[in-house]
Amino acid sequence: MTIAIRMLTSLTTIAIFVAVSLFALPANAENDASIIRGAKLYDKWFAVIKAEKPTQNHPAWPAANTKKKNDVTWRCKSCHGWDYQGVDGAYGSGSYLTGIKGVNAMAGADPAKIVAIMKDDTHQYSGLMDEADFQDLAMFVSKGQIDMRKYIDYSAKAANPADAKLGERYYASLCAQCHGANGDKPDDMKKTLAKQLGNPWEVLHKILNGQPAEQMTALRVLDHQITLDLMAHLATLPTEK
Ligand code: HEC
Ligand code: HEC
Repeated sequence: MTIAIRMLTSLTTIAIFVAVSLFALPANAENDASIIRGAKLYDKWFAVIKAEKPTQNHPAWPAANTKKKNDVTWRCKSCHGWDYQGVDGAYGSGSYLTGIKGVNAMAGADPAKIVAIMKDDTHQYSGLMDEADFQDLAMFVSKGQIDMRKYIDYSAKAANPADAKLGERYYASLCAQCHGANGDKPDDMKKTLAKQLGNPWEVLHKILNGQPAEQMTALRVLDHQITLDLMAHLATLPTEK
C-alpha cells in the first residue's frame, strides 16, 4: 500500500468515527426521557400533546387502503409500523398495509435530518407539533428503535418463549396496581392484556415506552428479557373480560 492510500484509509476511518460519535449521545436519564416521550408521540402524538384529532386522511395515506381513515392515518405507527419496519415488517399485510417503508433505516441518523423529514411535503407535520415534540420524535427514531425480530417470532405472531413464572412476579410488582391481577383493568380498556397479545409488536412497544397520555411505566431501560418474561405471563391471563 502506498503511503497516500494508507493516509486516505485512516482519514476515512477518522471521518466515520467523528460522524458516528457526533450522533452517539450519552446514555443518560435526560436522553431516556426524550426517547420515551418520542416513542409515545410516534404511537399517538395528538393524544400526548392533547391536540385536536385530525379529521381527514393524512395526504400520504394511499387511497387504495380504505380500511383506515382520518386521525389514525396520522399516527407514525400507522404507516411505519409498531416494529418500525413498515411494509417489510408486520404491516406487510393486513388492514394497515400501505406499502410504505419503515423508519428503521434512519436509526442512528442525525436527529435534525429526521425533524426535516417530518416537516417535508410528504409528512406535513409543521405547525401541528412544537419543536420539543419534533426533537423527542427524532430522538426516538434515531436512538430508540429496537430490532423486534430479535424478540418476536413473526410467523407465529408471538413473543419468543420466556419465563412466565418470573413474569408473574414482575407483573405483580409493576403492572397489577393499574391492570388488575387478570389484566382486565382499567375498566375502559376494551381488550384484556392477554387479548392484546394478538399484536405482540404493539404490546412490546407499549411496555417499553408506556401508553400515550397515561401514567403507565416505561421499561425501556431495563433488560428486555424482563419485558419478554412479562409477555409470557400475559399469555397465561384471561383473553375475555
Ligand atoms: C400517512 C403515512 C405516513 C405517516 C403517518 C408518517 N409517515 Fe413517515 N414516511 C411516509 C412515506 C410515504 C415515506 C417515504 C417517503 C419517501 O421515500 O419519499 C416516509 C418516510 C419517513 C422517514 C424516512 C425513512 C427513510 O429511510 O428514508 C422517516 C424518518 C419518517 N418517515 C418518520 C415519520 C415520523 C416520525 C412520523 C410521525 C410523526 C411519520 N413518519 C408519519 C409516510 C408516512
Ligand atoms: C399507572 C398505571 C399503569 C401501570 C403501572 C401500567 N399500565 Fe399499562 N396502561 C395503563 C393505562 C391507563 C392504559 C390504557 C388503557 C386503555 O386502553 O384504556 C394502559 C395500556 C397498556 C397496554 C396497551 C393496551 C391498549 O389498549 O393498547 C398494555 C399492553 C399495557 N398497558 C401493559 C402494561 C404492563 C405489562 C405493565 C407493567 C409493566 C403496565 N401496563 C403498567 C396504565 C398502567
